[in-house]
Amino acid sequence: MADKEKYLHGFTSTEQERLRKQARFLETQIYSRIDLSSVNNLLEVGCGVGAQSEILLRRFPELHLTGIDFSEEQIGQATAYLSTIPYATDRYHLQQADATDMPFDSHRQFDGAFLCWVLEHIQNPQRVLSEVRRVLKPGSVVILTEVLNSTFFVDPYSPNVWKYWMKYNDLQYDMKGDPFVGAKLGNMLQSLGFTRIEIEPKVIHLDNREPAKRTEMIGFWTELLLSGLPKMLEAGYVDEELAENMKKEMHLVAKDPNAVFYYSFIQAKAFTS
Ligand SMILES: C[S@@+](CC[C@H](N)C(=O)[O-])C[C@H]1O[C@@H](n2cnc3c(N)ncnc32)[C@H](O)[C@@H]1O
Repeated sequence: MADKEKYLHGFTSTEQERLRKQARFLETQIYSRIDLSSVNNLLEVGCGVGAQSEILLRRFPELHLTGIDFSEEQIGQATAYLSTIPYATDRYHLQQADATDMPFDSHRQFDGAFLCWVLEHIQNPQRVLSEVRRVLKPGSVVILTEVLNSTFFVDPYSPNVWKYWMKYNDLQYDMKGDPFVGAKLGNMLQSLGFTRIEIEPKVIHLDNREPAKRTEMIGFWTELLLSGLPKMLEAGYVDEELAENMKKEMHLVAKDPNAVFYYSFIQAKAFTS
């Protein structure tokens, strides 16, 4: 399978904008406990269109960032995006590379690593973490933020959204990804010899307490669901009818004055020894 076909969300400009919107929307929650102020040379694995790179360079002004992604297209987009950001000037290097076989010497240049929404797309996440450990200096910090897709819930109850969502996860699984990888980060880090491992479930629970944020999240989630649709239709995981019913139910959830949105993802922090 070509690299392009392996990636569930695809590489359209809508998808690239979705990644940036997603990063900004979740920024407060993702970065609330991340402090990389003592890191000089950060490795960002699976940097995509540079959405997290921009945030990292903004939040940690002393940082130099090396971003890798296996997609030339994403690297091109990230390069174009970061070149428009004044505070990023001369502070980053982006290159096409496979996270399971990184083109870097062992224990040389990096003293921190950051991965966000990446391991879910990779057949052998353990191999990626082993590469991360190999290229980092001893005592370096690693921050992982990954999905746990079984936690998604909306009220009013929406059976077609559920069906569609499980098909979405089935497709990701069959494409050799892992939509539940977040739950396994602790085990993987421990078996690879990382130390001081901390695991934190991050909860997005939106209801009448924050109606505007809830509306934004439901809109954003609908875009996420639709990002997988072309591949799901093509591979026969869903038909047009299920897709239409899913859209109708998400629309009803969006309009419901008592709607509830819930999703939880996992963040891990650990150190190389
Ligand atoms: C969902 S995007 C996340 C991008 C970015 N981390 C963010 O949060 O916006 C996942 C990225 O991982 C990249 N990727 C998937 N498999 C990879 C691999 N084996 N090596 C490097 N990058 C990979 C994809 O090309 C894609 O850009």
